[in-house]
Amino acid sequence: MSNGIDPATKIFGITGYPLSHTYSPIIHNYLFERYGINAVYLVFPSEPRFFSKMTGALKTIGVKGLNVTIPYKTNIIRYCDTLDETAKRIGAVNTVVEKNGHWHGTVTDPEGFVHAIEAVFKDFQFNGKRILVLGAGGASQSVVYASLAHKAAEVVIMNRTFSKVQSLEGRMKKLGFMNCRALKFDKEILSQDNRFDLIVNGTSVGLKKNDPCILDLKHSLKITKIYDLIYNPSLTSFLVEAKRQKLAYSNGLGMLVYQAFASFEKWTGMRPDTLDARTLFRKLKAKRN
Ligand code: ATR
Repeated sequence: MSNGIDPATKIFGITGYPLSHTYSPIIHNYLFERYGINAVYLVFPSEPRFFSKMTGALKTIGVKGLNVTIPYKTNIIRYCDTLDETAKRIGAVNTVVEKNGHWHGTVTDPEGFVHAIEAVFKDFQFNGKRILVLGAGGASQSVVYASLAHKAAEVVIMNRTFSKVQSLEGRMKKLGFMNCRALKFDKEILSQDNRFDLIVNGTSVGLKKNDPCILDLKHSLKITKIYDLIYNPSLTSFLVEAKRQKLAYSNGLGMLVYQAFASFEKWTGMRPDTLDARTLFRKLKAKRN
């Protein structure tokens, strides 16, 4: 058969909505080929009104593994038979592992975030650091949890809608993380408190080319590192400003790649290496330009 697809080919994929811009098929199909696995990674976009039917269809065709993205990271939980400890604690699933018809929900975003930060900011360790997270949506949740679980001294979370960030703070405190604090979004926060080692943008501000810079960095300290979860465009106004202030900064391509590596390992037992990371960064950057 063409493309190496035959009756034994295993099906993996991603569901979410919309999915037109996802890079996950590039990453996973590259990894399947590189590790000689007879599998294919497909895109399963699902409008919310069809999501229940979509999960049924995916079970029927016997997908071996699934990534789940916006807006279903919470919704997918009810279709999982079991959850791992981190998924339970965060209340989100981005990776489903299928075994004998049983769906096991896991989450690889926190691991992807930590790996990306430690890879891009070589001297950075979370232990004892003060971290400012912008936004309280699905992506920020994993960033906040991962930072606290890696022993950050304090995590300050700022969100436009205060009730949402309060509820996130409440959930983290229930898990025993008392060192997190919710604030209403304040673009000028650094003029009152600038002692942050890392600032992470988890909002959607910057996704559109003309979006403004999300935070005033005028009063930032030189040691503050800036990470934007957005990877396309590669340089948001926030990162342009970080560059202007001569701060170390990075976009979110690393988190995308490393959360995918962690999913791949859960599905196959194989751990992609730094050569894979380098190859994929090159491929994905070329695609974006
Ligand atoms: P995701 O799952 O990718 O995190 P999301 O749950 O829709 O997506 O979250 C988007 C985040 O961007 C939210 O924190 C949102 O703030 P609200 O909770 O107030 O909606 C934030 N956001 C979006 N537009 C924003 C803006 N113009 N200024 C500040 N924050 C914004």
